[in-house]
Amino acid sequence: MTEQQHQGRVVGVNGNMVSVAFDTSVIQNEVAYVVVGDTRLKSEVIRVRGNEADLQVFESTNGIRVGDTVEFSRELLSVELGPGLLTQVFDGLQNPLPRLAEQAGFFLQRGLYVQPLDRERRWAYTPKAAVGDTLRPGDTVGSAPEGIFEHRIMVPFAWSGEWQVTWTAPAGELTVVDPVAKVSNGSEERNVTMLQTWPVKIPITNYKQRLFPRDTLVTNIRCIDTFFPVAKGGTFCTPGPFGAGKTVLQHALSRRSEVDIVIVAACGERAGEVVEVLREFPHLEDPRTGRSLMDRTIIICNTSSMPVAAREASIYTSVTLAEYYRQMGLHVLLLADSTSRWAQALREMSGRLEEIPGEEAFPAYLESLVAGFYERAGLVELNDGSRGSITIGGAVSPAGGNFEEPVTQATLKVVGSFLGLSRERSNARRYPAVHPLESWSKYRSVVAAKDLDRARQILRSGNEVDQMMKVVGEEGTPTDDFVVYLKSELLDAVYLQQSFFDEADADCPAEKQVYCFAKVLAVLDAKFQFTDKADARSFFHKMRQAFLDWNSSLWKTDSFTKAEAAIDRLIQTGLNA
Ligand SMILES: Nc1ncnc2c1ncn2[C@@H]1O[C@H](COP(=O)(O)OP(=O)(O)OP(=O)(O)O)[C@@H](O)[C@H]1O
Ligand SMILES: [Mg+2]
Repeated sequence: MTEQQHQGRVVGVNGNMVSVAFDTSVIQNEVAYVVVGDTRLKSEVIRVRGNEADLQVFESTNGIRVGDTVEFSRELLSVELGPGLLTQVFDGLQNPLPRLAEQAGFFLQRGLYVQPLDRERRWAYTPKAAVGDTLRPGDTVGSAPEGIFEHRIMVPFAWSGEWQVTWTAPAGELTVVDPVAKVSNGSEERNVTMLQTWPVKIPITNYKQRLFPRDTLVTNIRCIDTFFPVAKGGTFCTPGPFGAGKTVLQHALSRRSEVDIVIVAACGERAGEVVEVLREFPHLEDPRTGRSLMDRTIIICNTSSMPVAAREASIYTSVTLAEYYRQMGLHVLLLADSTSRWAQALREMSGRLEEIPGEEAFPAYLESLVAGFYERAGLVELNDGSRGSITIGGAVSPAGGNFEEPVTQATLKVVGSFLGLSRERSNARRYPAVHPLESWSKYRSVVAAKDLDRARQILRSGNEVDQMMKVVGEEGTPTDDFVVYLKSELLDAVYLQQSFFDEADADCPAEKQVYCFAKVLAVLDAKFQFTDKADARSFFHKMRQAFLDWNSSLWKTDSFTKAEAAIDRLIQTGLNA
């Protein structure tokens, strides 16, 4: 077929939806370009009906007119995979933003697309497979170092069947488009290069099996790892009202989580916040490697000032990149901020398509799309026996902080850990504002379950006493109850709350959490003697200060040991009083 036959004409424009009439065949979700003068605007076919199709245009649709030409590409919306993805900042369509800026200046230019991977850059390729080897899609052909990782070069995932290696490139400096091997399936010979493409809406599944995520992903955040843990390969969400600290929490997670690769999908959030990450990350030291944090990070950025339709693409692009690195046996953390903005884009498009709306006008299939996204997380065993994982964490921004709304509800049905941020706590500057009574997790904590139960019980009882005191006042509250309340406040202040901006407090590896939690629990379990409530209050005040001093001393240093001794002395005074 010639190019000519894959064309259509614009018959209607409605916001960023364009209707096209065509005489050729059109595939659902294929990429099309609306030709306006000498610009081609990237779009995706989102509905086909007879010989008409509806496209969502990823750019401003200004100037599109009825009769304009539309070119169908015959390809699904895809990303490029290969070495050179790490450290990059892409938009939702995988345009590298810095290079786009070089070409277009400060203001993004419509219809300008740049190849995601540099075609000139050379990588130190080392072959692994030998001539005669039989490989399947996803099997390793060779590798090239990318930062601190061995980037596996694999037989393209999109191929099928078995391929025999007929030639391999010798070790050397190659570009992503140079052939690294030739393979044959008996009837056809193909080149393998370091570059392959993959359609973003289809999960990459070239692995042996999915495994149940058991190991805790240590985030260095106490309230998460101890109370509401996340598993490597699991899913979690952080819903919270406007300004409750979702973005700050995600930044802390991206910086300190013990994973190989972090992918940040900034979806519909303010540009200023993304700029902050971009400014900060290259200068931050990765606590695990001592190199720049950016070396193991990819940022996919579709800010509120960028076209709404590309939000959806940014979500799928980011999870596809995560899957690619998982295929190399790496552990990836994908953070999406905010999935509500993605859902809003879906709502807008569904409205234009005049679909029957579901709750709050979100499309009726919202739940299945949200589930489909989180299901791409997971721990897998690859064909060579190694393991890789994707952990997905999504921020949700429900209007008015109402967790009953559809996006939060759809999300909490599928995630394994629910970290609800509360307005009350953020107003009281109790950060991170994760609500200790409303949040939950199905994953394994870094501390023993029975210890955790006791701590949880104190939080619940403390809350009950607090509620009661609001009615009967402090005077009407028995001292024993008051002590329970003080204990729960202590646990909150010295363990649940944590400063991400204090280097010592922010650095809280699993071992330190287990150690410190045991100490807090010893205080919670202790039967102190108090003469009256004032006595109890003053004791817990001192205790709290002693713990805060402990928190702000670095793990396994002299000051840590000294601060701990001070706590131990205080415990003794309380017991002997
Ligand atoms: N852990 C924290 N420690 C100290 N301050 C914090 C913390 N979390 C949030 N804040 C304060 O709250 C402000 C808002 O936080 P953040 O931008 O993360 O909220 P958000 O939930 O992402 O809001 P939005 O809904 O607007 O995206 C921050 O600028 C900061 O001043
Ligand atoms: Mg935010």
